[in-house]
Amino acid sequence: MSRLDSFIRRLSAQRDILNGVADEVRALDGPVLELGLGNGRTFDHLRELFPDRRIVAFDRAANAYGPSMPTADNLVLGEIKETAKTFVGANASLAHADIGTGYEDKDAITLTWLPEIMAGVLGAGGLAVSGLPLEHPALQPLPLPSTVKDGRYFIYRRK
Ligand SMILES: C[S@@+](CC[C@H](N)C(=O)[O-])C[C@H]1O[C@@H](n2cnc3c(N)ncnc32)[C@H](O)[C@@H]1O
Repeated sequence: MSRLDSFIRRLSAQRDILNGVADEVRALDGPVLELGLGNGRTFDHLRELFPDRRIVAFDRAANAYGPSMPTADNLVLGEIKETAKTFVGANASLAHADIGTGYEDKDAITLTWLPEIMAGVLGAGGLAVSGLPLEHPALQPLPLPSTVKDGRYFIYRRK
């Protein structure tokens, strides 16, 4: 598969999953966290899905397209491994992490801390949506929408 096809499938998986969990997230209290703001496309989609919800975005640098830039109070800059620690206990309803690189060695390092962060920021019943698999005793894997191939993206519910 070309990298273009793979990119398209990753983004459609992201959109289909976020659309699929939206009702469940709306039924929960708590902020939505976007780990890896990037260009802000997913952040913009989250704003459409959850217009009344606080959405906090994290990245090491502010590179989002202008209209998709979060307000300063909803943008946390720095290494997520450190910055997201301040949101542990925030009882988030949804945490989405799109910070995989496609490099196995780099992603393996991310996976030494990401599952603990994701489990820590969510409230009970909150949803973790991730491009990298999260192994954590408090995160229960959930089935993917039928449009998403196994292993392309991952959904978990915080126990
Ligand atoms: C694939 S992009 C996210 C794309 C985003 N979903 C969008 O709609 O544009 C990943 C982003 O995560 C950020 N990132 C990756 N690992 C990070 C880390 N450990 N700490 C802070 N930012 C990180 C990168 O700087 C990059 O902007």
